[in-house]
Amino acid sequence: MADKSMEGLNTFTAEVEKKVDSGRKLRVAIIGCGWIADSHIRSYLAQPDVEIVAGADLIPGKAAKFFEKHGVEGVKTDYANDEELIADKSLELDAVSVCTYNRQHAPVAIHALNAGLNVLLEKPFTVTLDEAVEVMRAEKKSGKVLSIGFQPRLDANMKMIGKIVRSGELGKIYYIQTGGGRRRGIPTPFGTTFIEDKTAGLGALADIGCYSLDMVLNAIGYPKPLTVSGYKSAYFGTDPNYCGYRADKRAEYASKFGVDDFAAAFIRLEGDIILDFRISWAMNMDTPGDTIILGTKGGLRIPSTECWNGSVGGPMKIYHEVAGSQVETEIPIIKMKEGLFDLKIRSFLDAVKNGTPAPVPSSQIIYNQAILDGIARSAELGREVEIKIPEI
Ligand SMILES: NC(=O)c1ccc[n+]([C@@H]2O[C@H](COP(=O)([O-])OP(=O)(O)OC[C@H]3O[C@@H](n4cnc5c(N)ncnc54)[C@H](O)[C@@H]3O)[C@@H](O)[C@H]2O)c1
Repeated sequence: MADKSMEGLNTFTAEVEKKVDSGRKLRVAIIGCGWIADSHIRSYLAQPDVEIVAGADLIPGKAAKFFEKHGVEGVKTDYANDEELIADKSLELDAVSVCTYNRQHAPVAIHALNAGLNVLLEKPFTVTLDEAVEVMRAEKKSGKVLSIGFQPRLDANMKMIGKIVRSGELGKIYYIQTGGGRRRGIPTPFGTTFIEDKTAGLGALADIGCYSLDMVLNAIGYPKPLTVSGYKSAYFGTDPNYCGYRADKRAEYASKFGVDDFAAAFIRLEGDIILDFRISWAMNMDTPGDTIILGTKGGLRIPSTECWNGSVGGPMKIYHEVAGSQVETEIPIIKMKEGLFDLKIRSFLDAVKNGTPAPVPSSQIIYNQAILDGIARSAELGREVEIKIPEI
């Protein structure tokens, strides 16, 4: 039976207002001027139809230094936070890139949408499902473009996974194993914003787990998640002797660590599909395994990468029968000319200019967020939980 609440979700993105005069440059601001903002600004600067007019960061002086580093002049940065920037009507903004840490995704996106701005929001969507629902309500009310920063799905190799599934070559999909891992890869080179609960909220689960989920869910058309039994742990991040802290002489990071460094889950999806998932920032193993998609006619193996970053790690293989023989067909890696960040920024700008739906719509990523939220809840309760997405 069709899910009534999702019918609304899947259609409202098509009603985006067409308000930007395509003859003038789009006026863009960057909120949160940390590590990932570097990739945003580089890609914006490569676009001929964009003017970066403002930036804000909670840390005084950080935004000004950021634009100086990138050689961008005449940008307004004298704001204490996102709200001050958004309230500055003299900027005549069209759009903002939200590059804040996870806990500041929902509030900043809501402020921007409520002010009638188009929003490119970094991944993960939010920390909790409730926050994501609130962002989508603001999106719906605003009629503006909200796109979530999942650039790996723009990779031609990722797109190939979906093409293979849709071609029917695998038959009916019934089981998926996905995830990825790093042996030692807790991200602290720029401080503690990824590992503290007050800034990150979720650890490996949201940082790289959301990519693994998007890799397979996007390929199979984002079926609705129904239940999840989840687990998470933090044995490495909370250890003052963790090699990364030792190397950086930062043993105190262990006491700040308030998120997961490993998570696993068993998820039931609509359509009688099982999703078996695990993700790690640190573990005593090279990789928790490749992604595999099992169907009644064929199976697809997508090689993992050692330091999981959401990309296809090598030629994929289809395991199937041809004329009664069991054979394997290799899918060669497709080399791309374009950078994924450039594609992410360009596709967002095109949606804003043309009034077309968001390239990475919230109506899909809400399911990704519901799974992350379900894993966290289930892990805390120590039992399986149902996934219920409120009406938007
Ligand atoms: N798409 C990708 O490939 C990718 C890669 C890395 C990080 N990310 C995501 O980007 C986000 C930011 O990561 P990062 O590594 O840049 O973190 P970071 O800690 O280096 O930078 C975040 C910045 O946001 C600022 N900030 C927070 N709230 C603010 C607010 N309300 N107003 C103004 N500034 C605010 C902080 O002061 C900080 O300087 C994270 O959610 C992360 O998951 C995405």
